[in-house]
Amino acid sequence: MRILLLGSGGREHAMAWRINQSNMTDELFIAPGNPGMESLGKIFPDIQVNNFEGIASLALKENIDLLVVGPEDPLVHGITDYFALKPELRHIRIAGPCAQGAKLEGSKDFSKAFMLKYGIPTAAYRTFTSETIHEANEYLKTLKAPYVLKADGLAAGKGVIIAQSLEEAQSELKEMLGGRFGNAGNRIVIEEFLQGIECSVFVACDGRDYRILPVAKDYKRIGDGDTGPNTGGMGAISPVKFADKDFMSKVEERIIKPTIHGLIQENIDYKGFIFIGLMNVAGEPYVIEYNCRLGDPETEAIMLRIKSDFADMLYRIASGSLADYQLEIDPRTVATVIMVSGGYPGEYQKGFEILMPLDSDETILFHAGTKRDGHSIVTNGGRVVAISSYGSDIASAIERSYAKASQVVFEGKNYRHDIGKDLMNL
Ligand code: AMP
Ligand code: GLY
Repeated sequence: MRILLLGSGGREHAMAWRINQSNMTDELFIAPGNPGMESLGKIFPDIQVNNFEGIASLALKENIDLLVVGPEDPLVHGITDYFALKPELRHIRIAGPCAQGAKLEGSKDFSKAFMLKYGIPTAAYRTFTSETIHEANEYLKTLKAPYVLKADGLAAGKGVIIAQSLEEAQSELKEMLGGRFGNAGNRIVIEEFLQGIECSVFVACDGRDYRILPVAKDYKRIGDGDTGPNTGGMGAISPVKFADKDFMSKVEERIIKPTIHGLIQENIDYKGFIFIGLMNVAGEPYVIEYNCRLGDPETEAIMLRIKSDFADMLYRIASGSLADYQLEIDPRTVATVIMVSGGYPGEYQKGFEILMPLDSDETILFHAGTKRDGHSIVTNGGRVVAISSYGSDIASAIERSYAKASQVVFEGKNYRHDIGKDLMNL
């Protein structure tokens, strides 16, 4: 197969690493990619993920059989539909849902209504606009602190506000409806706060059949002990002990099966990954959010645990033939640490030279925000490098990742020092 992968983060580097190992892969192309992927495929740094025309002409020129979409943006903007509507592109299989399916992530209002309709457990909620701000304030008064406010549309992971007091919630609400998130904030979902511990469940879906991939936990805040502002993700652990057989059977029966049933009922031909952000509330799973793609940094952890052929899985997702796929999972633990630029998630500088140790049998480094500058690799984003290691348990896996982290050199490097600690004490 000739495969074109879209994206440039640690998630896509990890996916490319696995795709490259498959016997089914004849050639791998990546747009825009990053320098870490240069040895895995041919990269096209000038073709961005939302440049549908550029992607289409590359796909035709290189005779692509399978398009794999890493990030949510092109999915929500309809890349799958764009290919389906053009006769010359229609033969290309796509691992990634159509725009209507991607709405599970692209619109909080849509996904909450979907969950309500199909009886999928989630926090109680209501949706408001600037015309109904008065009702929104009244609804807030019926809830208890903390208050959860979500911009309806894509807001680069920043659209969720958790306010500690009613006054704070009301002033945030006013700002959100006043345009702080642009069009993404035209509608605001206000929902009940769920108390518990989170995990990320990934489902590969071919429109009918599905496979549940390894569960992971993400660490979202910048500071140790889950302090400071939210980031794109500072680390990940897989597996997650509390997502045991009993919990996962509840997830499958109450959430995964009704989600896929609902998609079929709604005539949404969902061929891609469904990422379910879950809250474990005293042993009961609730959906915090859906995403229409794999998670970052969770993918940098779970790619090490998927032993069966990943390119084959992607092809089967895209062609509706997952029913015969034998998913094989490595039983070992994987711990991922993200090295970020100093100042991130606030303002930070780019362009610092990076020196990295080599991979070993137990530890793999994935590039995220990096760029080639002549013979050097320099920092080019908030999240710079992901370091993933195998271990027999969390302690041994994380120790290996931290040992490599200490060998990565770039000005201002920062990372969390407590990834996995909370799970060790469970
Ligand atoms: P989201 O972008 O929907 O994943 O929300 C970002 C983060 O906000 C989640 O990972 C949770 O930590 C938190 N969050 C979102 N919704 C809720 C909720 N209803 N109750 C508690 N925490 C929430
Ligand atoms: N790790 C969370 C996300 O990818 O949205």
